[in-house]
Amino acid sequence: MTMRVAVAVSGRGSNLEALLRALGPDTPARVVLVLSNRADAPALRVAATRGVPTDVLEDPADPAGWLTDLERYRVDLIVLAGYLKLVPAPVITRYRDRKINIHPALLPAHGGKGMYGRRVHEAVLARGDRESGATVHLVDEVYDRGAILAQQRVAVLPGDSPERLAARVLEVEHRLLPAVVLAAAAAGRPVPLPEPVELSP
Ligand code: GRF
Repeated sequence: MTMRVAVAVSGRGSNLEALLRALGPDTPARVVLVLSNRADAPALRVAATRGVPTDVLEDPADPAGWLTDLERYRVDLIVLAGYLKLVPAPVITRYRDRKINIHPALLPAHGGKGMYGRRVHEAVLARGDRESGATVHLVDEVYDRGAILAQQRVAVLPGDSPERLAARVLEVEHRLLPAVVLAAAAAGRPVPLPEPVELSP
């Protein structure tokens, strides 16, 4: 049975694009809906270009809009890919253990409210960490706190800027997220990936 995936986005959509590239008619997971809190999110164009239905939530804090969409598209798994708002609690409850997020650092370090985008990589560099990476985890009521499903490490290099580090982490994100979604589809629910995660090139 195909796992029906909804992807929630707020911005650029490169992880969405990586997912759409990795998931096709022959894979056990398919993106059936892209949700956004912002009508101007470039990620919506990524979805539209590939013919994936989109919806802009009128009020992202209202669970009714979410639940109507998720039921209409018979969604099995929610993927937060650069979604910057909290998901309303009733949605968390209804989709408990069926919601994942990707974060551009090695959680539990450098996570939590307000830790997104450039700030994450600045914090890694400011603390002098020798490595960073990407984390995929289950979503619960608190930002970046749910159980970790997979991590991939990336070296911090001498002279790294937040932008250079972000680009290196992003490249890993684009392989880690599809790997976790495909493993979830194979298992019927999100599962931890064995370390070290074997990523496709
Ligand atoms: C990624 O770095 C992801 O880890 C974080 O937000 C960023 C989204 O980038 N949660 P994109 O919109 O997928 O390009």
